[in-house]
Amino acid sequence: MARSASVFVCSSCAHQVAKWHGQCPQCEEWNTIVEERAPTRAAKQRPVSAGGASNRPVIMREIASDSTPRLATGIAELDRLLGGGIVPGSIVLLGGAPGIGKSTLITMALGLMASAGRSTLYVSGEESAAQIRLRAARLEAGATPGALDVPVLAETDLDVVLAVIESERPEICVVDSVQTLACADLSGAAGTVGQVREVAARLIEIAKRTDTAIMLVGHVTKEGSLAGPRVLEHLVDCVLQFDGERERTYRTLRAIKNRFGATNDVGVFEMRDGGLVEVLDASERFVSEATCAPGSVVLAAMEGSRPLLVEVQALVSPSEMVPPRRLSSGVDRNRLALVLAVLARHAGVSTGSADVFVNVVGGVRVDEPGADLAIALAVASAASGRSLTASGEKPLCAFGEIGLTGELRSVPHQLRREQEAKKFGLTKLVTPERAGSLREALKLDHCASESLSARNAA
Ligand code: TYD
Ligand code: MG
Repeated sequence: MARSASVFVCSSCAHQVAKWHGQCPQCEEWNTIVEERAPTRAAKQRPVSAGGASNRPVIMREIASDSTPRLATGIAELDRLLGGGIVPGSIVLLGGAPGIGKSTLITMALGLMASAGRSTLYVSGEESAAQIRLRAARLEAGATPGALDVPVLAETDLDVVLAVIESERPEICVVDSVQTLACADLSGAAGTVGQVREVAARLIEIAKRTDTAIMLVGHVTKEGSLAGPRVLEHLVDCVLQFDGERERTYRTLRAIKNRFGATNDVGVFEMRDGGLVEVLDASERFVSEATCAPGSVVLAAMEGSRPLLVEVQALVSPSEMVPPRRLSSGVDRNRLALVLAVLARHAGVSTGSADVFVNVVGGVRVDEPGADLAIALAVASAASGRSLTASGEKPLCAFGEIGLTGELRSVPHQLRREQEAKKFGLTKLVTPERAGSLREALKLDHCASESLSARNAA
């Protein structure tokens, strides 16, 4: 019988065992045993001689600089995030929740590249060729010429995929998704940590060798915990994260890691009937849709290096539940808990027995402390039932971090945030510069610090 082609290795202490265990017998860590391909005999016996032509250190200045032009995807926002296009031979990981639009984005990119004369390949382990064709037809009817010209390979066997890349030598290949490919040498099902790592490692090897840029699609659950993309982040050159809520139309694309460009950037897209459309005037849209009702504030957020105005809404309503609900979408729940605690302790706005809902309109996610003040103002305004601006006026705009003692702390890029607010006619600003503490900020716009319970009692 042939020797088993795989071994089980503890990812914590590298101890090897013959079969899978829940706990490593060596270091006693749980869930660390991962299946890996056993090293081949040839690899084990590779002779190494120091001083050979290929393993001599090289002075960096003497290395020929890589001036290969990047492959532009034709989607301006995507190109900007990648730092001017995809670098040939690089690996990009596109992560996001299922249904967010990953396949749509890559089909559009491949279509545009195919129509620009690039050789492309779409490997799908998730959908049949006919299903991919349906999407492509929809996109071509939209605004993506060439979507139907992309060659498709519906395959889940890694070795077949590698052989096709080897023979076709496309300039760009997309693998949708990395969790569906499986290496036959490993017994684990597709999508397990061992499989995902092996699939990625072998694709990276072929990408570097054949100069094919490879884009891996990976599903991430809301908790980001699913075996897969997270274990790949350190292996790939660039990690793009597609965020947003499936039910909403706005999507943000963020570069979390980029060896060939900046990471603090974000692109905003809208899902339409004919595919994803870049939203270049996101601030303008959100401001024009903003209401001046109680509980509404405009937040001047920074999405990477770009200011973005979004509306933050809060609803405070008497609760029947113990403990009352605190729900947030678009902002971190823990951040909301902190803001509510500071509001109660230092600003006299108690929401103790009320349900509190906070929402960033449009499905945008704001993950920065600069959102604190806007959340606090929205909640205070919702609790008092008074709007922060008179009707007919432009909405109030705020940003700033709230400290645990109720002080307001400055946040990066204050000037750019203020400029963005002014650009869209928001003159009523509450910032850490204008108010030193949360209590002062609440007074500034005459938002009563009367608590809901007080109002209910009255
Ligand atoms: P999809 O790209 O398949 O998501 P993912 O690959 O991330 O799982 O599609 C996401 C959703 O977008 C899907 O529910 C259908 C919708 N959609 C549109 O609204 N317009 C379009 O033109 C296309 C192609 C899809
Ligand atoms: Mg998909």
